[in-house]
Amino acid sequence: MTDQLFLSTLQGKKSRTTPIWMMRQAGRYLEEYRKIRARQKSFISFCLNPEQASAVTLQPITRYGFDAAIIFSDILIIPWAMERNVRFETGVGPLLDAMQQPDEIDATCLDGLSQKLAPVGEALILTRAALPAETTLIGFAGAPWTLITYMSEGGTSRDFSKARKWAWQNRKILDGLIDILVDATISFLSLQAQSGAQTLMLFDSWANAVPASQRDWLVIKPTRAIIEGVRKNGHNQPIIGFPRGIGEGLVRYAAESGVDAISLDQGVDPVWAGQNLPSKMPVQGNLDPLGLLNASVEMFRDIDHILEAFHNRPHIFNLGHGITPPTPVENVQKMIDYIRYR
Ligand code: CP3
Repeated sequence: MTDQLFLSTLQGKKSRTTPIWMMRQAGRYLEEYRKIRARQKSFISFCLNPEQASAVTLQPITRYGFDAAIIFSDILIIPWAMERNVRFETGVGPLLDAMQQPDEIDATCLDGLSQKLAPVGEALILTRAALPAETTLIGFAGAPWTLITYMSEGGTSRDFSKARKWAWQNRKILDGLIDILVDATISFLSLQAQSGAQTLMLFDSWANAVPASQRDWLVIKPTRAIIEGVRKNGHNQPIIGFPRGIGEGLVRYAAESGVDAISLDQGVDPVWAGQNLPSKMPVQGNLDPLGLLNASVEMFRDIDHILEAFHNRPHIFNLGHGITPPTPVENVQKMIDYIRYR
């Protein structure tokens, strides 16, 4: 099998070249994406159309030759499969049926989950067959806490107060909901691992909203349960965790969640991460995506800073969060060229 720079880095090998990809690399900043997007009936049916999902997954690889492709799908596809009526409205973002109580749903909502999500597996199979041999294919899911923030509020929220109140007031029944989401995520990640995903990533995008005293319970424990479940199903692909915004909580997360690598948001000082995360653990990150809007001298300086801080450990270059729609495509090329040829 051809060597994959991204995969060997995740397995702990430090190479002279730093692998690169970007969160949300298949998205609206690309005109070729917007063209296909404009033809879709809905965002969910787009995610569940294997040919179209595969086509847009390949777009950033064709344009930039990134070292990894992330399958085009969404973390909210699990709540969709649990019949939470997920839809996306332009200019509003995701909308779902808000939950009144965490025990409003039970494990029967998992019936048929794998069949409903089977098109994501098909998209992975098509994509793997079409990708260059040296490009790694990533599958992903959202972590339970982050899914609960959307499912409780019925969409994006400013302060996630509903999920946070549940954590204080309904601990036991919230645990029941977490268990359901852990099971759903184990099935979904296993389906992806079976269908050609060579790496898995778990997005805990709103981990920053969890009080430090509840991180073990709401962030680390569910992550560990998911990883144990995926391993028990016989899948050994590396798993990257993205506990966005947990700051110094990264130390325990690295030690106890069971992830193989950590994706860092731009709020984490790379020098601190270099000194405080286990020396052999691969890290991914962490340029501020907004730096790409004008690709100024400061952005290149920040890239140098990140590369230097991680020059001693396996490092995958990425953004600290998803690329934003107004980003000029030529600035992405400048970033890549700078990292590859500096
Ligand atoms: O290249 C890729 O990363 C493609 C796959 C991907 C999407 N969403 C496609 C998408 C991935 C990995 C995600 C993850 C995701 N989705 C997260 C975790 C990462 C993060 O950003 O923190 C979250 C929180 C979501 C939920 C979500 N999906 C929101 C809040 C929105 C609306 C806001 C926005 O950025 O548009 C989406 C929609 C979405 N998911 C789009 C894409 C390309 C844009 C929608 C469109 O094309 O109409």
